[in-house]
Amino acid sequence: MKILRMSAAALALASLTLLPVAAPAAAGGQGGLRDAARGTGVRIGTAVDMSALAADATYEQAVGREFSTVTPENVMKWEPLEPTQGTYNWGPADELVDYARAHGQTVRGHTLVWHSQLPSWLTEDNFTPAQLRSLLRKHIFDVAGHFKGRIWAWDVVNEAFNDDGTLRDTIWLRNLGPGYIADAFRWAHQADPAAKLFLNDYNNEGVNAKSDAYYALVKQLLAERVPVQGYGMQGHLDVQYGVPDALPNLQRFDALGLQTAFTEVDVRMMLPPDNTKVQAQAQGFTALLTACLLVKRCVSYTVWGFTDKYSWVPDVFEGEGSATLMDENYAVKPAYTSVRNTLLLAAR
Ligand code: G3I
Repeated sequence: MKILRMSAAALALASLTLLPVAAPAAAGGQGGLRDAARGTGVRIGTAVDMSALAADATYEQAVGREFSTVTPENVMKWEPLEPTQGTYNWGPADELVDYARAHGQTVRGHTLVWHSQLPSWLTEDNFTPAQLRSLLRKHIFDVAGHFKGRIWAWDVVNEAFNDDGTLRDTIWLRNLGPGYIADAFRWAHQADPAAKLFLNDYNNEGVNAKSDAYYALVKQLLAERVPVQGYGMQGHLDVQYGVPDALPNLQRFDALGLQTAFTEVDVRMMLPPDNTKVQAQAQGFTALLTACLLVKRCVSYTVWGFTDKYSWVPDVFEGEGSATLMDENYAVKPAYTSVRNTLLLAAR
């Protein structure tokens, strides 16, 4: 049941009221975010680092306790899956799918078509456009077919647009033309009719040139009866840039009948953290979650890692970090408490 009654402002304000929040219960117990989300209609998820899942018991217990949907951070991307042409490395991805099944979790597949993390044999062999189209079709049928029936939602095409609303200049656009997007969705649907098929990108959370381009694309795809079913917003925020007003954007995609999802949420900051940044971080996580809770077809809210111990952010943004809900020792931050309170209020 979605809370379509309480206003966003009221919910956000209430969520910052520090309700008594016990620390997360022991592994497998009550008290995680997934329990707090019961009854809200929104699955709470995380990207999963498979090395950490195998080697770090605290990490593994938290993944099972806190989340009801999981996304492979890397192991379903083309390069890790097919490092040499025709040789698939299914193991790590199958491990995550098996883990999810054992823990009553759904899996968000990430990602079938992207311009990054492509194997060198694909990008350096001077394939013709026709060969690349055939290779992309085969990849989608091989991968979506391998996981058929085990993937809740696929990020079919990831990061297709630039921030100004033009199509991103990728190997796929250059060789297949703009139609690669519709083709990818048709092929994915043929390979796994049950999976919900999403577009996914960053900086597309609010109403802006990028999300306007997605809105126009979705309307065109729907008119052509292309099986696009979801609009994903990664939600990579930075306290220095503020929080986008996502609600009007979610509402317009919802009005098209599309599912929406926040797929990779984290809120980074220039280090070291201070109280102002930490509170701004909590507001960032909570604002996106509130928008999701207020929209009928927003089905999941996934964080891109839940502990600073394994976050991608310091490797990419020099001098920044502390982007997740828990610190490197798994201590919860005010952002975790605010997210949990927001869910508890919504579930009532
Ligand atoms: O697995 C290899 C390892 O064998 C090698 O020794 C090592 C050093 O070169 O690299 C390892 O691969 C790394 C991979 O993560 C797995 O750890 C890649 O170099 C590294 O580039 C890759 O980074 C990932 C990044 O996507 C790639 O673009 C991050 O972990 C991952 O968090 C990040 O996630 C993306 C989403 O997929 C899409 N949205 C943006 C988000 C953040 O960039």
